[in-house]
Amino acid sequence: MFNIYTEIILDHYQHPRNFGEIKNPTKKVEVANPLCGDKIKMMIVFDKEKVTEVKFTGVGCAISTASASMLTEYIKGKTKEQLKKIDKNFIIKMLGVSLGVNRIKCALLSLEALKKLL
Ligand code: FES
Repeated sequence: MFNIYTEIILDHYQHPRNFGEIKNPTKKVEVANPLCGDKIKMMIVFDKEKVTEVKFTGVGCAISTASASMLTEYIKGKTKEQLKKIDKNFIIKMLGVSLGVNRIKCALLSLEALKKLL
């Protein structure tokens, strides 16, 4: 039986938001989880300091995909200053599940991408 948080994660995994490519992004990065080799590519468009578009592609597990999906939803419309405040604790809280050491790396892959985009 899944709890509510797990259902949200599964929904984002099965129907990832902002999945795809942007033609002319301001910046594009690729990050990989060294433990499993999964990769996430994230691209962003800034209008001055604000995020107007963000998308990601790649193949990952449920946690890494859900994390990227939720994070890209959250950051649209935010400023670079606001994005700089996003940290590990924010991601864990956003996912709403307790994660072991290995799964934390999955969850933080999208954060690593975001930091490289700033
Ligand atoms: Fe590869 Fe989670 S198992 S990112």
